[in-house]
Amino acid sequence: MVDSLHFEDISRVNELGSILNSKFEKLFHIDSLNNNEKIYVYKEDNKVYGFIHISINYEVVDLLNIVVDKAKRKQNIATLLMDYMIGDLPKTVIRILLEVDENNVEALKLYNKFNFQVISERNNYYGSNNAYVMEKRL
Ligand SMILES: CC(C)(COP(=O)(O)OP(=O)(O)OC[C@H]1O[C@@H](n2cnc3c(N)ncnc32)[C@H](O)[C@@H]1OP(=O)(O)O)[C@@H](O)C(=O)NCCC(=O)NCCS
Repeated sequence: MVDSLHFEDISRVNELGSILNSKFEKLFHIDSLNNNEKIYVYKEDNKVYGFIHISINYEVVDLLNIVVDKAKRKQNIATLLMDYMIGDLPKTVIRILLEVDENNVEALKLYNKFNFQVISERNNYYGSNNAYVMEKRL
């Protein structure tokens, strides 16, 4: 099931976030989220196996992080998180933006499934890899 982040989930989300960025905990301070940020977690038997982290700024949502436990990938968890997040957005939101490494095949599959379009590219954004900036219009 998908739910909003609770206090007891924080250490596990930091653990999963470190898959994406070794400095996740220090960079994102999810124990003191800004009012415009939200994290949703996917849990089975009370254990967190994935999360999505967004920032809502008036009509725009930035998708900051989405991670699923390695052992639980390709089981629709990211899809459930994305669907839940989109369904919970305020009516004022008209677009979702994100950045993704051009070589991140799994993430690109997910974003294509949700009809995100590449709107620009950033050269050497992830070391020598380029980034796509992608947008989904609601
Ligand atoms: C990207 C990520 C969140 C996807 O999570 P997931 O739970 O495995 O995704 P889902 O199971 O919901 O799959 C979504 C779609 O992508 C496809 N997909 C996902 N991984 C795939 C893979 N390795 N090969 C082929 N297709 C893949 C699925 O088949 C599905 O499409 P479908 O429904 O048409 O079959 C996960 O791979 C992850 O945590 N990666 C590391 C963190 C990361 O890179 N995050 C994104 C940063 S921008």
